[in-house]
Amino acid sequence: MERNSDRPVIVTGGASGIGFAIVERLLAQGYPVAVFDLNCAGLQILGDNSSLHPFEVDITEYDSVARVVAEFETATGPVYGLINNAGWDSAKLFIKTEIDFWRKVIEINLYGPLNVTHLALKRMAELDRGRVISIASDAGRVGSSGEAVYSATKGGIIALMKTLAREHARQDITFNSICPGPTDTPLFAAIDKTGRLNERLRRAIPKQRLGRPDDYPGLVAFFLSDDASFITGQTISVSGGLTMSG
Ligand SMILES: NC(=O)c1ccc[n+]([C@@H]2O[C@H](COP(=O)([O-])OP(=O)(O)OC[C@H]3O[C@@H](n4cnc5c(N)ncnc54)[C@H](O)[C@@H]3O)[C@@H](O)[C@H]2O)c1
Repeated sequence: MERNSDRPVIVTGGASGIGFAIVERLLAQGYPVAVFDLNCAGLQILGDNSSLHPFEVDITEYDSVARVVAEFETATGPVYGLINNAGWDSAKLFIKTEIDFWRKVIEINLYGPLNVTHLALKRMAELDRGRVISIASDAGRVGSSGEAVYSATKGGIIALMKTLAREHARQDITFNSICPGPTDTPLFAAIDKTGRLNERLRRAIPKQRLGRPDDYPGLVAFFLSDDASFITGQTISVSGGLTMSG
């Protein structure tokens, strides 16, 4: 049996940016991978791959997510890993935002991971094995001007992972969060239309560059591995030293 072929993994938002880099790495390591994304066009570049299962789905819709989790499990067997990666924001000062905007940010960044985690975890709990890794943000640890509601949702995800780590500590299921710093992806480009923020951040980051999507898959692969089975409820920043949390 190919290494990891009995460990199906879901990657939300896997058709772009950080999620796409994670998908490429997991496929290379033999995992069957489902991508749950609003738009899977970005996966075409990977060509035909029988281990890749793209599902165009909105993770904010619980019933739709339930349907695609069931389809993926029928094709591959019970889900072993979940990477909560899909996310969205638009930078605005909090006092200039309105409730509809809050709702959208909370739906995507908090309800989305709640939905997928709730559904994927059911089978993990029955089988007593699993790995949940959430791509949160340093915004959820130290705040980020112009991203108040987003920061609140990312702080919420970090707390969710810690709580589930406690609730399932007696099983072989772990929950951890990875916090990217500013990273050169389509999401960041949409927020920094002039490039000025990129330049300012580059000067502030000790490693003198923004993150790249390829900075994250190694840690994800480690958390999925047997070597990480004793690590749970942890939050790790991958941000070139921009934040150094104890
Ligand atoms: N880029 C950064 O600077 C940065 C920094 C910290 C954290 N993050 C986090 O990293 C993760 C990935 O971000 P990225 O920069 O790669 O973004 P991206 O925009 O390149 O990719 C996000 C993907 O999520 C998908 N998506 C969005 N809403 C969805 C929904 N409702 N249902 C299904 N799919 C949906 C999009 O279609 C897209 O393919 C996000 O959670 C983001 O908050 C990014």
